Amino acid sequence: MAKIISIANQKGGVGKTTTTINLSSLLAAAEKRTLLIDIDPQANSSSGLSVTNHTPSVYEVLVGTKNIKDVIINSFMPFLDMLPSNINLVGAEIEMVDMENREGLLRTAIAEVNDSYDYILIDCPPSLGLLTLNSLTASDSVLIPVQCEYFALEGLGQLLNTINIVKKHFNKDLAIEGVLLTMFDTRLRLSHQVAEEVRKYFGDKVYKTVINRNVRISEAPSYGKPIILYDAISSGAQNYMQLASELLENNSAISNN
Ligand SMILES: Nc1ncnc2c1ncn2[C@@H]1O[C@H](COP(=O)(O)OP(=O)(O)OP(=O)(O)O)[C@@H](O)[C@H]1O
Ligand SMILES: [Mg+2]
Repeated sequence: MAKIISIANQKGGVGKTTTTINLSSLLAAAEKRTLLIDIDPQANSSSGLSVTNHTPSVYEVLVGTKNIKDVIINSFMPFLDMLPSNINLVGAEIEMVDMENREGLLRTAIAEVNDSYDYILIDCPPSLGLLTLNSLTASDSVLIPVQCEYFALEGLGQLLNTINIVKKHFNKDLAIEGVLLTMFDTRLRLSHQVAEEVRKYFGDKVYKTVINRNVRISEAPSYGKPIILYDAISSGAQNYMQLASELLENNSAISNN
């Protein structure tokens, strides 16, 4: 059985995709059988791993015209598979509204491949719509990236509220995997202030690892590569390696499989 983790925050540009790409490739590098599911119509985590405009995509899986097993593709890394996204997904939320089990479509699909993986990471869109609800309903836990910027905490109440609604109605065991501080700039007082505030609010749910702002991280996707293959000695690569270790340690019960 895979551990299924949503990477979610309805705030845009906080590092969801960057975290999904880099964490999944590092889990794969640690020889954990990993599946990255891109459920964002922007399809950034697909293109960030060199998969562009791929059809079929998670869209066909959600609307039920394809079996998930026929849509998953291998990435260029041995332990990393991918369920890619495509701009078609933009229309999916509207199509899904009238479907039976509309919040549970992804969960039902994942059940077919759950045994083939150790970790499944889902990159969510910047909204709390039906796509994110499907992701949360399918997941064991949520990893919340928080950008060390003004208004970082804004909207987090709404996210927690949505998590509670999902727990109440669709997935009672949904947990918070961790809160990740991203784009931290050691020189900025603001970064330190935001980090302190987030730690005050979320306590030990906040990862010890902090992801620093690092230009190499933002360059890697244009080469279709995770940071570890683009620049393994960059501070960004080091930060994400530390995060992967921390996550594996927190999940040591399943990591020892
Ligand atoms: N640690 C970092 N250092 C420098 N740039 C970063 C870092 N993390 C992310 N970025 C850049 O910030 C931008 C937003 O990151 P990303 O796409 O991961 O956010 P997102 O939450 O997935 O956005 P969206 O809500 O649009 O899906 C991207 O251009 C990315 O390359
Ligand atoms: Mg994204």
